[in-house]
Amino acid sequence: MKSVCRANAYVSEAHGIKNQEALQCSNTMGRKFVVGGNWKMNGTKAQINEILGNLKSGLNADTEVIVGVPAIYLDYVKSQAPANIEVAAQNCYKADKGAFTGEISPLMLKDIGVNWVILGHSERRQIFGESDDLVAEKVAFALSNGLKVIACIGETLEEREGGKTNEVVFRQTQAIANKIKDWTNVVIAYEPVWAIGTGKTATPEQAQEVHKDLRQWMSTNVSGDVASSVRIQYGGSVTGANCKQLASQPDIDGFLVGGASLKPEFVDIVNAKQ
Ligand code: 13P
Repeated sequence: MKSVCRANAYVSEAHGIKNQEALQCSNTMGRKFVVGGNWKMNGTKAQINEILGNLKSGLNADTEVIVGVPAIYLDYVKSQAPANIEVAAQNCYKADKGAFTGEISPLMLKDIGVNWVILGHSERRQIFGESDDLVAEKVAFALSNGLKVIACIGETLEEREGGKTNEVVFRQTQAIANKIKDWTNVVIAYEPVWAIGTGKTATPEQAQEVHKDLRQWMSTNVSGDVASSVRIQYGGSVTGANCKQLASQPDIDGFLVGGASLKPEFVDIVNAKQ
């Protein structure tokens, strides 16, 4: 099945055909559902114990689970988390070491056994001024140091209302595509900024449309193979109540969850894929 679908995507690409059928075919072929909990700047040891306690049982083994932890607690969470939960940093810099006060490096993350990092979150882009280029450089550097990356993209409300959603999402992805060749260890998180922390979740149709368009764009601008295999998470006010409908969309391969990842309902979100 896998190779047939891949072959379809290749053939359509070779013919320059925008073959959505080939890409949708790929969806049945095992992009493992992946759910990340982005704790942001939240949690104390006591709260972390509670969160991890909730995750000790009941998780669907078919879903990859990653928790994005404040840097100061990475080592602690590594020591406490069950083996089926991966741990991610929420940022890292594009150098091994040096005079970069306040930063941490991929080398340091690897040194304490952390294998994932979230990069390019809209809060990093908007509050801390990270440009498309800087995010892309960080993604490339993290990958080259053996980390797996959740690379975040997404438009603001103003951009969506201005009809620029695809333009922004493609531009942010292009910046990364300019700097990397191998997408095996990349998960893309599509997180519309207007949906983050607002309770205004994108509808399943809105999210699916962007995911589908992005996959199509990748088919044309990266490769059919990457378009079929790269996992695209949705993020923005995902809850236990809305996750199942979102998870039923063919191009949504998981979630990146903020607020609800601190609550017991995170287990329901991990188990959203039927
Ligand atoms: P919320 O789930 O709180 O909207 O946050 C989403 C997010 O930013 C995850 O990275």
